[in-house]
Amino acid sequence: MTEGSDKETRHFELCLKDSGMDYLPGDSLGVLPTNCPEVIAALLEAVGLTGQEQVEVGETSMSLSEALSNHFACTVLSKMQIKKFNQIAQSEKLGELLDVANKEALMEYMWGRELIDLFLEFPQSEMDAQTFISLLKPMAPRLYSIASSLSAHPDEVHLTVAVVRYDGYGRERKGVCSSYLAERVGEAIPCYLHPNKNFKLPEDDKVPIIMVGPGTGIAPFRAFIEERKIKGATGKNWLFFGDRSLNTDYLYGEELESYKKDGLLNELDLAWSRDQQEKIYVQNKMMEQKAELWSWLQEGAIFYVCGDAHRMAKDVDQALKRIVAEEGSMSEEDALAWVKGMQRERRYLKDVY
Ligand SMILES: Cc1cc2nc3c(=O)[nH]c(=O)nc-3n(C[C@H](O)[C@H](O)[C@H](O)COP(=O)(O)OP(=O)(O)OC[C@H]3O[C@@H](n4cnc5c(N)ncnc54)[C@H](O)[C@@H]3O)c2cc1C
Ligand SMILES: NC(=O)c1ccc[n+]([C@@H]2O[C@H](COP(=O)([O-])OP(=O)(O)OC[C@H]3O[C@@H](n4cnc5c(N)ncnc54)[C@H](OP(=O)(O)O)[C@@H]3O)[C@@H](O)[C@H]2O)c1
Repeated sequence: MTEGSDKETRHFELCLKDSGMDYLPGDSLGVLPTNCPEVIAALLEAVGLTGQEQVEVGETSMSLSEALSNHFACTVLSKMQIKKFNQIAQSEKLGELLDVANKEALMEYMWGRELIDLFLEFPQSEMDAQTFISLLKPMAPRLYSIASSLSAHPDEVHLTVAVVRYDGYGRERKGVCSSYLAERVGEAIPCYLHPNKNFKLPEDDKVPIIMVGPGTGIAPFRAFIEERKIKGATGKNWLFFGDRSLNTDYLYGEELESYKKDGLLNELDLAWSRDQQEKIYVQNKMMEQKAELWSWLQEGAIFYVCGDAHRMAKDVDQALKRIVAEEGSMSEEDALAWVKGMQRERRYLKDVY
């Protein structure tokens, strides 16, 4: 999807035929991944177990390999896990990191390290299989915002996934679920629908919508636009999208350009963060268009945000408040109250992660 990009963002189409599953734009898909066999093999070697050992998982007895493959999270570390590990390992270094005063040092230690790194740094040759799995958390499903409208793609569900890959401590790492999806193309994917009643298109098709979705945040907005197109909704549509570079990261670029040309997208603002010296983000584009954006809000537009929760959604929120203050000639306090009012009236909706 993004050839030449230094990111790996993929578009997936899953077939729902005969599954009985249906969904609405704004819903998410929960995916239940299994762990990668190579990751399990490397972990078993580091722990000093074969995988043939029998373990009890709840009421069921199974091989350690099967337990690791389907039932437990084997990579990302948690503080609790390090604590449990150190009850056995009794390492002075880990003990110090676990001290409440060293919270930041612990976070730094955990960043980029996985369970295998604990066993490589603090070998536990005596650990039996059942004790080993007692250190593990159950495998958690991952949610993905649905990128398609079921009316536009009957029996299909589409996803936009940033595949997590990075190097950590001399080893190539990959996100469990995003890489599972990338490596299992063509196979059946265990999944379930996760409805989100708090992130829906307005029932009234005439209501304008403003969508802010950089990176994979574009996903639900592709679904929204498709749905509005198929329903012949007359409300205006405005999309703010951004990513690293126009040439390599314009996700769904052809579709979006054609929607703009056809007038389905009344406004399309693009922010390419790495195509010039200084960063340009979606919130900069919002500020450039502040008068128009304020006028849409005055017309009753719903304001949607999707994507990164940690930085992007917070900065977009700040930009929105600034626009309300500047264009509505309000004090900071009044602008805050105005935006809170939007949230109360369900005109400011977020799907962030
Ligand atoms: C409601 C919702 C909707 C979502 N929608 C989407 C979507 O549409 N598209 C999408 O791609 N994702 C989406 N996500 C995120 C998705 O659920 C997963 O969290 C994401 O795919 C990563 O999962 P993973 O199993 O691949 O990675 P994991 O195995 O969970 O690994 C991720 C962990 O790896 C570590 N890590 C990652 N990068 C680095 C690095 N550079 N250096 C060191 N450590 C690192 C961090 O500890 C991070 O927590 C959504 C999440 C939610 C809650
Ligand atoms: N490990 C990897 O290789 C890798 C790669 C991509 C994404 N991810 C992870 O995958 C998840 C989803 O990725 P994604 O594609 O949705 O998004 P993303 O890659 O995190 O970002 C998409 C766009 O948003 C920009 N951005 C960064 N900070 C911002 C801010 N404060 N406000 C507004 N825009 C901002 C980015 O710019 P800049 O990046 O130029 O600052 C980029 O142009 C994220 O959690 C991300 O951490 C991991």
